[in-house]
Amino acid sequence: MRLIVAQDYNAMSRRAAQMVAKLVRAKPEAAIMVPTGDTPRGFYAELAAIHRRDEFDVSRLRVFQLDEYLGVGARDPNSFQTWITRAFLDPLGIAASRLVRLPGDADDAAAACRAYDERMRSAGGCDIAVLGLGWNGHLGFNEPPADPASPTRVVALSAETVASNGRYWGAGARVPNQALTCGMANILAARHKLVLVSGERKREILRRVVTGPVSPETPATYLKASDQVTVLADAAAWPWPVPEQDKVAADRV
Ligand code: F6R
Repeated sequence: MRLIVAQDYNAMSRRAAQMVAKLVRAKPEAAIMVPTGDTPRGFYAELAAIHRRDEFDVSRLRVFQLDEYLGVGARDPNSFQTWITRAFLDPLGIAASRLVRLPGDADDAAAACRAYDERMRSAGGCDIAVLGLGWNGHLGFNEPPADPASPTRVVALSAETVASNGRYWGAGARVPNQALTCGMANILAARHKLVLVSGERKREILRRVVTGPVSPETPATYLKASDQVTVLADAAAWPWPVPEQDKVAADRV
């Protein structure tokens, strides 16, 4: 695992966008897994800015949705698909057909999850999984305790995750307590994993991931046993010196 600490949120976002733009330029047909949430907003904005300045081909990208609420349809303004379309697909001009959805409104969600894993298999796996770090170390919606071999599936969300997501839904809204998530197996199998971590509120969980033992209780710690992982944090999330074993050449991805 390589830890890169950027001086602030904007620098972290810029760096992440440069890494992904570089990868897509080198492999325009790349399969990329993308998160929602607060942390990646700046990354998507920077990626769109790079694309506006110096266009790169996104017509062949394959975009895999990382997770979705169960029972929430694509047109729902609170769906992750709506979020990804607004933050990523539309600003870069990526056709909706390039998105491999996790359909929250599928009649048979378990079958939809199996179909998603099949699409991942036929894409030859994922070139880069861009990830946020959950308050409890979750990746996607793989809540603790997590099985590193878990497939894409329907999961129950912890009460704390539901409460934390409530900020997006507005007062009085019923936040779904189940979701579809790309499983740990496909996340860990991605050829690059780029984890974005920002802010003081992530400090303790990031410290646990970087310095603690690999444990199902902190799903992100499985990244330590996996190849090609870059944790890109801002100084608010990692105010300490970078541990010697995690120091990296900055431009590896
Ligand atoms: C979102 C997702 C979650 C978030 C994580 C951090 O698609 O899969 O794992 O990445 O909860 O969320 P933020 O960035 O809002 O702190």
